[in-house]
Amino acid sequence: MKVKIKKFLKKKNKRKIVCLTSYSKSISKILDKYCDLILVGDSLANVLYGSKTTHELKLQTMINHAKSAVLGANKSLVVVDMPKNSYTTPKQAIKNAKKILRETKCDAIKIENNRHNLNVVKAFTKSKINVMGHIGYTPQFKKKFKVEGKNKIEQNNLLKNAKKIEKAGAFSIVLECIEKKTAQKITKSLKIPTIGIGSSNMCDGQILVTDDMLGLSGFYPKFVKKYANLQKTIDKAIKQFHKEVKINKFPLGKNSF
Ligand code: KIV
Repeated sequence: MKVKIKKFLKKKNKRKIVCLTSYSKSISKILDKYCDLILVGDSLANVLYGSKTTHELKLQTMINHAKSAVLGANKSLVVVDMPKNSYTTPKQAIKNAKKILRETKCDAIKIENNRHNLNVVKAFTKSKINVMGHIGYTPQFKKKFKVEGKNKIEQNNLLKNAKKIEKAGAFSIVLECIEKKTAQKITKSLKIPTIGIGSSNMCDGQILVTDDMLGLSGFYPKFVKKYANLQKTIDKAIKQFHKEVKINKFPLGKNSF
């Protein structure tokens, strides 16, 4: 197991783990100072490519963004999402994960878990590929958004699944939009760190889509706190540029050769 992953695992029960998404070198460079883990999330399908779902995302698109994102990261663990349909069978999953890791030099991959892909997690572990799981609301497999784990049956199923994923060898697991008490139960029951998104503060760490928390994506569900309003900041700068070009105030002599 990589030194970076060992260090990441040791953070459980010591301090909260800080994670954010990045799709490019410039963003990773800023995140690297503050984050333990940078995720090249398949949310880039929605955020960058304007797709309604993540379902059509190509493996090569993830590789291209991961190649860029990893360049800005030095100390953080960089994890790449495997797109839907790239890990349908263990054989296909291993082939694609090896390609991602070889071409991007990232540290690990993440898959969304459903009831049928535990064998894929096991296959990754057998092949010494570091894998992160993802349960709760999993956009690759769920048609409609719903908070998960609100009743006993769902809670037990999520807990059972999380334990199986841990046993299969995942080094960490994302809990997406899981009710607080269920997130707490899962976090307490696992030895591996749980990383929450919309799953309360009862997880070992937190992740958000960076474009959402910066106020850039226009997607602000309840679990997103807007730490900046970059849409407004960028709008102001572009408006000024637009004005200065029109009145011939830009470029000045100092901007010319
Ligand atoms: O794709 C993504 O950005 C993710 C996070 C929301 C966890 O999976």
